[in-house]
Amino acid sequence: AMGNPTNVFWHECAVGKAERQNLINQQGCVVWITGLSGSGKSTLACSLNRELHSMGKLSYVLDGDNVRHGLNKNLGFSPEDRTENIRRVGEVAKLFADAGLICIASLISPYRKDRDACRAMLTDKSFIEVFMNMPLELCEGRDSKGLYKLARAGKIKGFTGIDDPYEPPLNCEIKIEQKNGVCPTPCDMAVQVVSYLDVNG
Ligand code: PPS
Repeated sequence: AMGNPTNVFWHECAVGKAERQNLINQQGCVVWITGLSGSGKSTLACSLNRELHSMGKLSYVLDGDNVRHGLNKNLGFSPEDRTENIRRVGEVAKLFADAGLICIASLISPYRKDRDACRAMLTDKSFIEVFMNMPLELCEGRDSKGLYKLARAGKIKGFTGIDDPYEPPLNCEIKIEQKNGVCPTPCDMAVQVVSYLDVNG
C-alpha cells in the first residue's frame, strides 16, 4: 500500500463544486447500497436511478458486478481485494459527487471498516448508507445467478453469507426490509430513498 504521494501537488480548478451544483440545480452525494448477494441492491440502484431521472436529477450507478469488468477487473474476492474494490469505488463515487451527481454505489461491501472509510472520504450529509436488510434464506432462495448453490456445494470458496462474513451496518441512514413478510417493490424502495434525499423540483 502507498502513503501520500511525494512530489505530487494538489491544485484547485477554476470552477468550484458550488458553481457546478448551481448549474445543474442539485447537490452531489453518494448513496451507498450494501447487502448480501441477491438482497436487491442492483434492483434498488436501477429503480432509484430511473426515479431520480424522471425527477430531472442526474444520477449514475456504480455496480460491483459491472465495475469488476473494467476498473476493478484485476480484483477477486479475498478480504484484501474486496477492501481495494470498495476503496476504488469509494474514490470514484467521491469524484462523481464532487461533479454534482447523485452517485449510487451498489456493492456487497461486507466489511464495516471499508464502508466507514468511504463515509470518511465525504462530508457528513453526502454519504447515505442504505442497508438491504434481507435474511440470508431469502437471498439464497432467490439465487438468481445460481452462486449460492455453487457455494453450498463448495465450488465457490469464500462466498459472502455462506463461508465469508457480512458485517451489517450499525448506523446506516436507511434500512430496506420486509414488512409482514413481504418485500417492498422496487418502486417502494426507490421512494423510500428519494424521500430521505429530499431532492425536489
Ligand atoms: S464486494 O464484496 O463488495 O467486493 O463484492 P461486489 O464487488 O459487490 O461483487 C459481488 C458480486 O460478485 C459475485 N461473486 C461473489 N459475491 C460474494 N462472494 C464471492 N465469493 C463471490 N464471487 C462472485 C456475485 O455475483 C455478487 O453479485 P451481487 O450483485 O451482489 O449479487
